[in-house]
Amino acid sequence: MARLACLDIGSSTIAAVIASCEPGSRPAVHGTGWAPAAGVERGNIVDLPAAGRSLAAALEAAERDAGCRVGQAILALGGQSIQASQRRGQLTLGREPVRITRKHASRAVNSVVAAGTEPGTEFIHVIPRRFWLDGQHLVRNPLGMPASRLEVETHAISAESAALRNALRCVQDQGLDVREVVLASLAAGEALLTPQEREAGAILLDLGAASTGVLVYSQGTPAVTLSVPIGGRQVTGDIAMVLRVSLRQAERLKLSFGRAIGSVVPERMLEVPDDEAIGVDPISQRLLCEVIEARCEEIFEQVMQAIAGTDFAEPLPSGIVLTGGGAALPDIDGLARRMFALPARTAAIRFPGAAASAMAPSWGTLAGLLHWLQRGQPDLLPEAGATRRLGSPVGRLMRQLLPLGGE
Ligand SMILES: Nc1ncnc2c1ncn2[C@@H]1O[C@H](COP(=O)(O)OP(=O)(O)OP(=O)(O)O)[C@@H](O)[C@H]1O
Ligand SMILES: [Mg+2]
Repeated sequence: MARLACLDIGSSTIAAVIASCEPGSRPAVHGTGWAPAAGVERGNIVDLPAAGRSLAAALEAAERDAGCRVGQAILALGGQSIQASQRRGQLTLGREPVRITRKHASRAVNSVVAAGTEPGTEFIHVIPRRFWLDGQHLVRNPLGMPASRLEVETHAISAESAALRNALRCVQDQGLDVREVVLASLAAGEALLTPQEREAGAILLDLGAASTGVLVYSQGTPAVTLSVPIGGRQVTGDIAMVLRVSLRQAERLKLSFGRAIGSVVPERMLEVPDDEAIGVDPISQRLLCEVIEARCEEIFEQVMQAIAGTDFAEPLPSGIVLTGGGAALPDIDGLARRMFALPARTAAIRFPGAAASAMAPSWGTLAGLLHWLQRGQPDLLPEAGATRRLGSPVGRLMRQLLPLGGE
């Protein structure tokens, strides 16, 4: 099978994995590459030429590593341009009840797509959550059940058209056809949470540089998708301000000595790395970690408030699963446990063929895309979810909403 590039255009890093995958089998990873991101803010491209240069550098590094060029890509999308809501669709089956097939379920889901979304936005995923038969009987999976009318509640995720267009343009400018666009936190959630966690109820938190992606699962499917506009960059900014060091020094201190809980850190003084002769006095590691803790607490508080602002109010016994660069911060899982009063763990990132230790949490989205490749359309309920797929001809975007057909 042809090789393709899995792409994560983040606010701090643009990363690419060259992979190939036969349907149903494990994807093979041929190369990886990354470059510091430019022209990307909170997941949105704000400077196309700058983002293009970063993407070109990441892609070139991955292609060099793989020893081949690629012509196709699958792209993760996230950040502030994403909105999601619960939407209902329906299908009349006939006066007499008929047994519901996958095609019927797909048509009910597609009625949500057909009803359209807000002007200036486009659906990227429409995921069925539950069905009603004849306006009354609530079921998770209606296949094979007789009914005259089928209603569906979906979790519909859309992106701002302009942001989507810019992301596509950026990738196409590198000579790549975009095969599919996947919500970054959905790709990560499907790969990094266990089916049991998704079923019982859990939150995927993608701790990025400029934003924190949130995906709440309940009963096996996404119920809330949102993004909070703060992340690791604000943590670094606080360190710089409170400890009076440069941003570069602050980032190095965070990565080398940072922890998310200050009280467990022994009192000791740290030499601050030199940064263009900005010499500073040694600083207290505990103070460093207290600054980090305060901002991480605020990020988690904002996540809780944002979830509370939706009408979702179900228990989440499987707790929090952390990914994204910020998940590499020691004790961040402990802080999440304390703040949310729920279990919390940092997701293990495993790439086929790579040692687990070689992979950092910032690769969580790409691990998600690889998993997505392997599984094709995820079995989000009765395998009837609609996902935006993009056709191949260069320069001409043939878009289709492709719920899986078949009985
Ligand atoms: N070991 C670490 N400890 C603390 N923070 C870390 C560590 N490693 C990376 N980070 C932070 O993670 C952030 C980058 O994460 P990631 O690569 O997931 O972001 P991104 O995808 O580029 O951004 P976004 O998702 O917001 O667009 C940076 O703020 C960086 O400082
Ligand atoms: Mg990211």
